[in-house]
Amino acid sequence: MDFKKRILCIGAGYVGGPTMAVMASKCPGYKVTVVDINEDKINRWNSKNLPIFEPGLNEIVKKTKGVNLFFSADIPTNIREADIIFVSVNTPTKTFGHGAGMASDLQYWEKTANQIIEYSLNSKIIVERSTLPVKTAQAMERILKSKSNGLHFEVISNPEFLAEGTAIKDLLEPDRVLIGSHQTESGLKAAQEIVDIYSHWVPRGKIITTNLWSSELSKLVANAFLAQRVSSINSISPLCEKADADISEISFAIGSDSRIGSKFLNASLGFGGSCFKKDILNLVYIARSYGLFEVADYWEMVVKINEYQKERFVRTIIETMFNTVVDKKIAMFGFAFKANTTDTRESPGIHIAKKLIEEKALLSITDPKALENAKIDLAGIDRTVVYEPDPYKATEDASAIVLITEWEIFKTLDYESILKRMKKPPFIFDGRNILNHSKLFDIGFNVYAVGKPPLNHFD
Ligand SMILES: NC(=O)c1ccc[n+]([C@@H]2O[C@H](COP(=O)([O-])OP(=O)(O)OC[C@H]3O[C@@H](n4cnc5c(N)ncnc54)[C@H](O)[C@@H]3O)[C@@H](O)[C@H]2O)c1
Repeated sequence: MDFKKRILCIGAGYVGGPTMAVMASKCPGYKVTVVDINEDKINRWNSKNLPIFEPGLNEIVKKTKGVNLFFSADIPTNIREADIIFVSVNTPTKTFGHGAGMASDLQYWEKTANQIIEYSLNSKIIVERSTLPVKTAQAMERILKSKSNGLHFEVISNPEFLAEGTAIKDLLEPDRVLIGSHQTESGLKAAQEIVDIYSHWVPRGKIITTNLWSSELSKLVANAFLAQRVSSINSISPLCEKADADISEISFAIGSDSRIGSKFLNASLGFGGSCFKKDILNLVYIARSYGLFEVADYWEMVVKINEYQKERFVRTIIETMFNTVVDKKIAMFGFAFKANTTDTRESPGIHIAKKLIEEKALLSITDPKALENAKIDLAGIDRTVVYEPDPYKATEDASAIVLITEWEIFKTLDYESILKRMKKPPFIFDGRNILNHSKLFDIGFNVYAVGKPPLNHFD
């Protein structure tokens, strides 16, 4: 089949795979190929057992794979053939050298730029899909121009705003698509090509075009604002616990104000995920490197409150269980950083599990999709951890249930039958405030939620 254009995506991860599957399904005239240096991952994309889980992803991949969507480990050939290259490689927090623990590690990004320059035989549009520090496009252009042999690479910023767990829905019906470019003739022409792709399914009014730097910075700011809402409500939860107020009632009361809005106001044990913490730290690092110390300090507090919230949650568990969890079986409900994903990156579950293991608890972890990743995250820990897909088995003889992830299934379990097979007194710590606390209390649990007065049978 003759394709109108050849789109390549470098990076077949949580962003590259779903984004390109949706793009291929909506743009049948374009050939869409996704490459990765990780051959195992490519093999899994080419199998029935995809490397990631997202509701609706299987169906879309099934329809498009082999038609106009292809996964390949052959990076040189695919770079050579592409007209437009989306780059969605990982940009984690740097763990070494200057800026360690704060700045973005751009090594994968730079390697990609070098691959593009090495294998390209024609001019191309390069689209930044990864989340990057503002002004990264300038560095990319410098690399690409350094040995371009007369070829022209126009760099466009098109940050991804999807949320894991709802990635397919977010991609099919985005709140907006952001496309940033140089305001030059070639920049605007390239931006228009990207607008044309999205116009296949996104209403034109939802496609925002800006200058390159606004687009790059908007992504960091969007994540900072989202995380800030979580930390803001979480910062009020300890106050509620002291003052006998209920954080859910407060969220509802303040969220009903249309100027505030109701989303992202659920108090919890803290946010996780590969993006929020890394992107805020990156924003803080950038602000500090420009000498904007007040700006940096302001945003850094969002991360500090999140760490405090995780710490507080573990402290509540230990103190409530009579200051010792030694040899007590604790069932952890969920390990993914949020529901409907296999992803455990930066999951609060990792922190909580490690702390409880340090205190010599016996952990039994259950999660509908993330047990494989949990095993990797806790590898090397010299204490037996049980990974149990069945929540009923995970709770047998347990002294406590600690709810980490807001999976729907945890709301509908038969807690009466669970309670019968648990040690007494039975505790439940709801880190997401999703369970029916009064019902659990009535059947005999001692219930501790975030930002709510405890319901216990001890007084
Ligand atoms: N995960 C999310 O929810 C999300 C949402 C919005 C934006 N983002 C951003 O998108 C980017 C990618 O995130 P992700 O979650 O998909 O990461 P990921 O780790 O799941 O995927 C990145 C992939 O890139 C591959 N890769 C790295 N260097 C490569 C190279 N030189 N050539 C080919 N492949 C290479 C890796 O092997 C990996 O499979 C990050 O910048 C992230 O901040 C992520």
